[in-house]
Amino acid sequence: MSHHPSHQHHPHPVLRLPAWQRRVLNLTAALLLVTGIVWLGVHYSIGAGAGELPHPLEVLCMRVHGAAAFAGLFALGMLAAAHVPAGWRVTRSAHRRADRATQRHTGVAMLSLAALIVLTGYALYYFAPEDWRPAMGWLHAGAGFAMAALGFVHARLLRSRHAAAAHVAQPLRESSPSSAPR
Ligand code: HEM
Ligand code: HEM
Repeated sequence: MSHHPSHQHHPHPVLRLPAWQRRVLNLTAALLLVTGIVWLGVHYSIGAGAGELPHPLEVLCMRVHGAAAFAGLFALGMLAAAHVPAGWRVTRSAHRRADRATQRHTGVAMLSLAALIVLTGYALYYFAPEDWRPAMGWLHAGAGFAMAALGFVHARLLRSRHAAAAHVAQPLRESSPSSAPR
């Protein structure tokens, strides 16, 4: 693979995901978020959560959500196989550039949130007692929203193209040890 240590100080992203993995991630994340959000909206306004009969949209959303959840688990396994160990290596302590630390922290936080999401999802499906369900559902969805938000920071989608270009043009802008020649 191309993640040779000598590339670690390069201003470009050092851990590009293969395009197919990026697509799997984006698609599953979008499906999970949309079906989760629509379910919340319908359930608590005109559905079972508002004292009405369960709305057909609730059922449809959870059907799709359940399918997407399996795809989500596949996506996590896919990342566990290559991206996470590679990311762990390139963000090791020898390379203390601030943005690399951000990647490490947000990456680990996302993994923890993923564990919480999977556990609460499992509980929701198999044994959440009726009176725990709403709280557990909100915890589950809240972890989902937090993970999505962290993903934007982690994948550096919030950085404008301008900022990225400036970063490339002035690699010594920050007096970071990793941009100095060794
Ligand atoms: C659920 C967990 C994770 C997800 C969903 C995730 C997702 C991503 C995505 C979408 C990118 C952008 C790749 C691209 O531009 O092609 C990325 C980059 C990266 N990730 Fe992760 N990642 C996760 C966990 C981790 C962990 C645990 C680490 C390290 C400890 C890590 C380190 C990195 C690094 C160093 C980059 C390169 C960013 C850059 O140079 O701009 N990731 N990740
Ligand atoms: C890999 C990620 C995810 C997995 C494995 C997962 C799994 C599950 C499972 C198994 C259920 C129970 C389905 C049922 O009772 O029929 C569920 C429900 C739900 N999920 Fe997810 N989910 C994930 C991500 C998300 C995300 C990102 C959101 C964000 C909105 C979300 C929101 C919800 C909501 C609102 C419910 C209904 C909760 C309730 O019944 O009270 N999920 N999820």
